[in-house]
Amino acid sequence: MIKIRNIHKTFGENTILRGIDLDIQKGQVVVILGPSGSGKTTFLRCLNALEMPEQGTITFDNSTPLFIDFSNKNIKKDILALRRKSGMVFQNYNLFPHKTALENVMEGPVFVQGKPLEQARKEAELLLSKVGLADKINLYPFQLSGGQQQRVGIARALAIQPELMLFDEPTSALDPELVQDVLNTMKALANEGWTMVVVTHEIKFALDVADIVVVMDKGEIVEQGSPETLFNNPQHERTKRFLHQIRAE
Ligand SMILES: Nc1ncnc2c1ncn2[C@@H]1O[C@H](COP(=O)(O)OP(=O)(O)OP(=O)(O)O)[C@@H](O)[C@H]1O
Ligand SMILES: [Mg+2]
Repeated sequence: MIKIRNIHKTFGENTILRGIDLDIQKGQVVVILGPSGSGKTTFLRCLNALEMPEQGTITFDNSTPLFIDFSNKNIKKDILALRRKSGMVFQNYNLFPHKTALENVMEGPVFVQGKPLEQARKEAELLLSKVGLADKINLYPFQLSGGQQQRVGIARALAIQPELMLFDEPTSALDPELVQDVLNTMKALANEGWTMVVVTHEIKFALDVADIVVVMDKGEIVEQGSPETLFNNPQHERTKRFLHQIRAE
């Protein structure tokens, strides 16, 4: 299980996260919804220490346990360990433009984990086949569609075999006809048992795939529950308002 407690993050004068608590069981898919500016991206970035919270703890209690307390200043090692446990898929893919699909996927295993080149290459080829890109491995990002680039992004995040996969609106930059391929890839990962936190407005994906849906507003979790309960019987006014707004879009 991954236990997240009391995550606080401020930027200058602005408090962005006001004490986020979340439990994620192994193999669960958590979908995070919420209005623009509510802190969803910031929260995901805190989960792999791309942002440093001022306060809060994250506990992984499995085969390689980790406890990280952000209020402690001397946690460099823990931060590296946290980064190795989580793989991030970004809204705008963030691929290296001068590297091929294969090289993008090999980057983490070779340069971060120190894997031998041949092994990393074989594993990267397998991962790219898994996301449906076996015939594109030697192409550069500019030669790929947005949906293909995003699937390279997913393969790259998987390559370090993280315990937790983080997706920040992975389909929101895509043309509508490319969205489904990426969602299908993510659905396949969920079925394989990957533990995933997904920020998305794709309600159908949430209904089909999520175990828990979390609604954030103004740096807080307003409500969480099963997708059926949350979508059909929301309890909080702010959840109702937000659902109304996205259904009207
Ligand atoms: N590096 C930063 N420096 C200063 N303020 C920031 C920084 N990153 C985010 N913020 C602020 O934090 C708030 C939350 O931003 P965040 O990107 O987490 O929201 P979000 O819920 O992901 O929104 P969206 O749905 O638009 O992606 C915003 O007010 C934003 O301006
Ligand atoms: Mg965001």
